[in-house]
Amino acid sequence: MRSRPLVTIVGSGRVGTACALFLMMRGICDIRLIDVVQGLPQGEALDISHAASILGIDVNVEGSNDLKDVEGSDVVVITAGFARKPGMTREELAIENGKIVRDICEKVREHARDCIVIVVTNPVDIMTSVAIRTLGFPREKVIGFSGILDSGRYRYLIAKKLNISFRSVEAYVIGQHGEKMIPLISNCRVCGLPVTKVLSREELDEIRTRVIKAGEEIIKLKGWSASHAVGAGVSELVEDILKDRRKLENVSVMLRGEYGVDNVVAEVLAVVGGEGVIKVVELEMSDEERKAFQEAVEWIRELTKKVLSSLGIA
Ligand code: 2OP
Repeated sequence: MRSRPLVTIVGSGRVGTACALFLMMRGICDIRLIDVVQGLPQGEALDISHAASILGIDVNVEGSNDLKDVEGSDVVVITAGFARKPGMTREELAIENGKIVRDICEKVREHARDCIVIVVTNPVDIMTSVAIRTLGFPREKVIGFSGILDSGRYRYLIAKKLNISFRSVEAYVIGQHGEKMIPLISNCRVCGLPVTKVLSREELDEIRTRVIKAGEEIIKLKGWSASHAVGAGVSELVEDILKDRRKLENVSVMLRGEYGVDNVVAEVLAVVGGEGVIKVVELEMSDEERKAFQEAVEWIRELTKKVLSSLGIA
């Protein structure tokens, strides 16, 4: 009989182990790392277990090379896949990573039917569709990790520009986790004021461009994708679920009529709790933002169609 919830992270690369480390530090669940590379998940799990012991955080962290070990998970986080290389777009990854996500989800469907799945693998909006279609779970149970990262970057840049606390900035990003993401101005507030009252349009445009390029900026600087911020964000989302926090989060969700869009996964705002997505919140936005959102959705729809058909997913 398990006393704590179990979160399984599939993929023990930099992103997967960052998720495990941030989760361990919250002390809210046992953690299982799974990877195809012999010894890697076991070694990372042991290292993180030693860290838990040093910090006095009593959680179990274990590693496995067998996907059947998703069994008993309350939450499964999918990080496995090829990472982007400098100059590569998320979309070029789509087919290769689609195969990996499909194969993982087939095992999750077989061994962990009642879990909630968080998809991190890029291009995440498309991979979340691959997961939903393969799992056959309701959309509420499959969440793409996207906007928490993008809005965190947006918030960081605004707060640094104004030399104020991150907590004083409310910032959201919608659309596609990639070149077609839309850092919103119409819903962005600083110390309760509309951001347009404290930053000029030029300053805002510069910040918004940097948000869109942030993933690429990190790859250019350190040679591989972001992992620490991803780990922090995933651990936040997992806590929303495990503690039923019913908190507004910026995530990728399969839309069912929201914003007039059906059957496409896009980056939106949703209330997340113990059952996964509780409600998609439709924001008021400017005509320019709404138009860009619709364009992003259509772009996602087209690429999703290509990837699903190449994977033989009806
Ligand atoms: C990023 O935006 C890896 O997609 C992730 O950095």
